[in-house]
Amino acid sequence: MKLIDSKTYLNLAKTFAGECMARTRYEFIEYGARQQGYTALAEVIDKVVYNEFNHARMCYTYLQSASDKTIANVDISSGYPFKEKWDLTENLRLAAEDERIEAEEVYPEYMKTAEKEGFQDIAGLFRNLIGIETCHKMLFTDLYEQMKSGALYKKDKPIKWKCGGCGYEWTEKEAFEVCPVCGAKQGVVLLHLNDGV
Ligand SMILES: [Fe+2]
Ligand SMILES: [Fe+2]
Repeated sequence: MKLIDSKTYLNLAKTFAGECMARTRYEFIEYGARQQGYTALAEVIDKVVYNEFNHARMCYTYLQSASDKTIANVDISSGYPFKEKWDLTENLRLAAEDERIEAEEVYPEYMKTAEKEGFQDIAGLFRNLIGIETCHKMLFTDLYEQMKSGALYKKDKPIKWKCGGCGYEWTEKEAFEVCPVCGAKQGVVLLHLNDGV
């Protein structure tokens, strides 16, 4: 079977669309975080945005490999989430939920289809995306829980904090309001995450 005649071709186009939308939704989160002074949080989100860009790029590259001619249009019919409003904490929860759906429902099905149609390399891409989106789900869940409980910059025990502005380090239960060295506000203090990206 040729890729251009396959279901996998359409699944790649759907994945491209979904990844482009995911990266835009995460830009919404990043925008909201920066507006509220959460610079370090915005920088963490920015890394996920770049991950999703690369997922879109890899799907696009496979789509291009299907034809030497210009692909004028790929007609896909698919639903995509439009849940986010403008609440930063709630958007982190929704992002975790959307990552779970990708990792547990959508991409496993696309992987199986690619395997069945004989596109083992594309099945491998979906397998890897499942692993990556699972990590994204865990990251967004962690950020959501920390934001919701007020633990982003306040811990039960003293912990080492590092200023993202000047690199000054100190150990306290709570991150500074204003860095004593460079004057940066609390939102630039680097986060403590369960799992890094
Ligand atoms: Fe992705
Ligand atoms: Fe993701």
